[in-house]
Amino acid sequence: MTAPGPTSLLEVRGLSRSFGGIRAVEALSFDVARGGIMGLIGPNGAGKTTVFNLITGVYRPTAGTIFLNGIDLTKKRPHEVVRAGIARTFQNIRLFNRMTCLENVMTPLLARGDAALGAFFRTPFVRGEERKARETALAVMEDMGLADTAYRLASTLPYGLQRKLEIARALACGLLVQGPRLVLLDEPAAGMNEAETRELGEVILKTQKDFDVTMMLIEHHINLVMNVCTRIVVMERGTLLAEGSPHAIRSDERVIAAYLGRKGKNEHGR
Ligand SMILES: Nc1ncnc2c1ncn2[C@@H]1O[C@H](COP(=O)(O)OP(=O)(O)OP(=O)(O)O)[C@@H](O)[C@H]1O
Ligand SMILES: [Mg+2]
Repeated sequence: MTAPGPTSLLEVRGLSRSFGGIRAVEALSFDVARGGIMGLIGPNGAGKTTVFNLITGVYRPTAGTIFLNGIDLTKKRPHEVVRAGIARTFQNIRLFNRMTCLENVMTPLLARGDAALGAFFRTPFVRGEERKARETALAVMEDMGLADTAYRLASTLPYGLQRKLEIARALACGLLVQGPRLVLLDEPAAGMNEAETRELGEVILKTQKDFDVTMMLIEHHINLVMNVCTRIVVMERGTLLAEGSPHAIRSDERVIAAYLGRKGKNEHGR
């Protein structure tokens, strides 16, 4: 019998993180399968963004482990996590306003150690890295319908396109690494109307398939979550409330009581 490889791309076990007296994440365990999109939902303050910050090495867990493709990421630093294959977007827009859209997507791709050092000397290696970054960035932007914006300043884009540009940047970052690719999206549809949200859902589905990445999606737009996610994890007060298919989650009494039932009067959870 051969030893079984890891069945899940991401394995989170007993993950906990406190801030002073606040237990932001508490003994949380879940798996993310390869391919597809895992939704991470729950009320404000449930601990969703903290989970992303723990996975990406921004915060150290107080307890628990995080494995990507069987490799322990628990104590890795953010740049090591990126190198291991995990890229993300942030809940609030973080674009460089005075750079073009293409530069916004390319810059993080070039900010890796070797390239940054060699940039000073413009070695052939660096020129090669730049070309690769540019090609990857343009391919992703084209796929997402952002090709026309490449040479515009990021600050001149309407809000919806700025959010898309951030996803393009995370995707491009993920594509440049070898091995597994996990892209974490933190409320990409925040502040979007129905039509924009629907269109974003189509873009997310298309890019996930076209570039064969695995995604995790934090969102309060529940229709978007139900439409694009293959599985859903529901958090409440730092803990796992439920995990299952969109269909199962939609009809789960505890999820309805803790979260979905309130959506009518508080659509964006704000
Ligand atoms: N750096 C920090 N310092 C202190 N408390 C924090 C910190 N980060 C998060 N928290 C607290 O941890 C809890 C979980 O916050 P988190 O941002 O993860 O929630 P969330 O589920 O993403 O909420 P939202 O849907 O509003 O974005 C909250 O009580 C929050 O105030
Ligand atoms: Mg959050």
